[in-house]
Amino acid sequence: MSKNDFPLGLSFDDVLLLPKYSKIVSRKLINLTTNFSRNIKLNIPIVSANMDTVTEATMATAIAREGGIGIIHRFLPLEMQVSEAQKVKRAENLVISDPITINKEAKLKDALVLMRKHNINGILVVSEKNFLEGILTSRDVRFRQDLETSVVEIMTPRVRLITASTDIKSEEAIKFFARYKIEKLPLVDKGGKLQGLMTASDFIKIGQHQVAAKDKKGRLLVGAAIGVKDGGERAEKLIGVGVDALVVDIAHGHHKTAIDLIKKLKGKFKKTDVVAGNVATAAGTEDMIRAGADAVKIGIGPGAVCSTRIVAGAGVPQITAVLESAQIARKYNVPIIADGGIRNSGDLAKAIAAGASSAMIGSLFAGTKESPGEYFIEDGEAVKVYRGLASREASIDRNNLEALAGREERAPEGISTRVAYRGEVKRIIQNLIDGLQSGMSYSGAESVKEFWQKAEFIRITEAGMRESMPRP
Ligand code: XMP
Repeated sequence: MSKNDFPLGLSFDDVLLLPKYSKIVSRKLINLTTNFSRNIKLNIPIVSANMDTVTEATMATAIAREGGIGIIHRFLPLEMQVSEAQKVKRAENLVISDPITINKEAKLKDALVLMRKHNINGILVVSEKNFLEGILTSRDVRFRQDLETSVVEIMTPRVRLITASTDIKSEEAIKFFARYKIEKLPLVDKGGKLQGLMTASDFIKIGQHQVAAKDKKGRLLVGAAIGVKDGGERAEKLIGVGVDALVVDIAHGHHKTAIDLIKKLKGKFKKTDVVAGNVATAAGTEDMIRAGADAVKIGIGPGAVCSTRIVAGAGVPQITAVLESAQIARKYNVPIIADGGIRNSGDLAKAIAAGASSAMIGSLFAGTKESPGEYFIEDGEAVKVYRGLASREASIDRNNLEALAGREERAPEGISTRVAYRGEVKRIIQNLIDGLQSGMSYSGAESVKEFWQKAEFIRITEAGMRESMPRP
């Protein structure tokens, strides 16, 4: 290509979906199941962004309950990121294979600390070799003043406990919960050793979230982001608690370090899907896939708090980036994730129509109840902070000393802003899904795959865009 021969890059506002013949009876029936990555299926094509103002355990749990997946951001100390991922994995779980326990020698005060830390209302008491000795529930500890009392004195002992063997079926467990009016059902082997736990509240939650995205063990799906230096211990520990996918989070993913990291991860952790990014071209996508990526994240600079295109002058308008990356990814049967720039359900429909299997969303979710941090009042409005990972504010928070030593002087490629507080994320997802299904029905598509085949774009002018906007 000569320097004068510029290809055209189009973004969300440059295009519309061409309305086409449709015989869809109800858009509610349109199937939104999709692949997040080679081996991970979702019930809706929605992913919450690995940003420190968007996704920790609460958001990831809520998104997975709606059928998508959340990616825990990586700007947490290792143990905290692992613990956030673990909270999602424990949120809805038919069998908790490693329940929280306390040794029978422990005191009431130790039990209370553990119960509060893990936000549980009962704790299994075990002996040195993990033999089940009893259970300490909130009822056992109520009104107890003497924190030095030993746990064995006040627990409900093993002889009075209802337990089951590890091969119990869920229908049988439900009968146990109903018949004995119990909250917790410890699973023990023939010798009396603790092997797991089932809880009534998990069954109730599961009943409420039929569409939830889950792994083979019935646990909610969750992903975790890692950086270039995290291919060792961090990756290992995250996988250790059951993280379904590692998301390599590098601003300029089409880079040797990213490719080396993907190869390393795929060589080491064969059973975990690795999502790579970010890239914005067919060549970048192909290099990620050849290195072993199980999905590729597309987007350089389209995000609401991104300033890469202004600061570095680099990027590709998102519709073109997704279209071109999808074409090459399809050849390898690897899904792509459209990351950034989604402002409404129409943008989501366009991103999927362009060939993405799912879309990663930051700003639309940042103002919700489930995003990290509390809302506050500014100029009479309830707001939350939303900031780019490469913003000056985020860098300073991450490493104050480095920042004070002068690093904050480098040109930040993101901004920090406020977004309106918007309540529960579930409502926003529902609106996105309704709009996406409507967009699909305008293309006559009953599934994501059909949408890719049938959707056609029309390019519009600025006048066309102006006409598109509601004019009160
Ligand atoms: P939205 O538009 O949904 O975009 O808020 C979320 C995505 O924005 C990207 N991101 C950044 N890009 N500088 C950038 O150029 C940054 O500081 C930054 N922080 C986040 C990221 O891909 C995210 O998923």
